[in-house]
Amino acid sequence: MTATGTWDQGTFAAAVGAAVWAPSIHNSQPWRFRRTTRGIDVLVDPGRVLPVCDPEGRAARVSCGAAAANLALALAVAGAPATCTVGRCGAVVHLAPDVARAATPLERRLHRQIPRRHTNRAPFAETRVDPGVVAQLARAVADEGGWLDFVEDGPELDALAALTRQAYVHLRADAGYVAELRAWSETADVDVEGVGRQAAGTAPHPAELMPRRDFGGPERAATRDPTRSPVVAVYGVHGEPAADEVRAGIVLQRLLLLAADHGLAVAMYSQPIEVPAVRERLRLALHRVHDPQLVLRFGYAPTTCYTNRRPVADVIDDADAG
Ligand SMILES: Cc1cc2nc3c(=O)[nH]c(=O)nc-3n(C[C@H](O)[C@H](O)[C@H](O)COP(=O)(O)O)c2cc1C
Repeated sequence: MTATGTWDQGTFAAAVGAAVWAPSIHNSQPWRFRRTTRGIDVLVDPGRVLPVCDPEGRAARVSCGAAAANLALALAVAGAPATCTVGRCGAVVHLAPDVARAATPLERRLHRQIPRRHTNRAPFAETRVDPGVVAQLARAVADEGGWLDFVEDGPELDALAALTRQAYVHLRADAGYVAELRAWSETADVDVEGVGRQAAGTAPHPAELMPRRDFGGPERAATRDPTRSPVVAVYGVHGEPAADEVRAGIVLQRLLLLAADHGLAVAMYSQPIEVPAVRERLRLALHRVHDPQLVLRFGYAPTTCYTNRRPVADVIDDADAG
């Protein structure tokens, strides 16, 4: 830490190195980091917000929140705990008032999962997830000001699947969407960004219940539907758009790291969130006041493939701001 009470350059750069392992739509990494006298700004990078898939910057704000959550964990483990304040353009990570405290065992465990967590698009085992673990996930989301609604196999899951398919069909009919997706997968520089062939997995099979996003992977004969249970859930936060989407990212990252700590694989679906009319139908079906943020599937599966990130130097704003 420096004499002015902010983090020194080495601690800052190391924490940003952890922050960038946050998830982002198409691995677009829509963030910038800036050290100021008040803390560290995690700001949406407008040049990396996806114009077709994310015209309002909703998913970009979620990712900035997730990156801020990683940053705060890394700082806590480095011995300088932080708190996050959210705003419409991102988050500010400040030194926590209890600055002298050591990292908690949970913070250490979640921090260890930052580079291990990844999106898993493979079929999950049918092994039941311990209800105690499921309850812990829901509690963790509630503690952070969010909600996690589990979707039961049967009519509820069928209704969610129908909405996911509607969104899938709607999006695939948009040439701009298809071109954007291709630019972040097939033709992306996957050494630093985007979703490569290995991470993308197979193309969605026509018979699968909830069509996954089609990153252009190879088609494979259906063995087992990779989109059924064991646990499907939708999460959101209580609050209004913009700042609360940044908070939703903090909630998401805590949830993903906790799931990883319990050995769970996680798949994400935002297609039903990306089409406003479908998102509204999903909100009504869940009887929620505020918009759902993401559909998630939890289960057990071997590690698949990691996506890559840009070098830390590329996401830090050069000059420290006042
Ligand atoms: C807001 C948001 C929406 C996402 N939507 C999807 C999706 O619809 N389908 C999918 O396969 N992955 C989705 N992902 C996962 C990203 O593709 C993934 O985070 C990114 O490629 C980086 O890979 P990683 O999560 O393995 O680190 C989403 C992630 C975020 C944060």
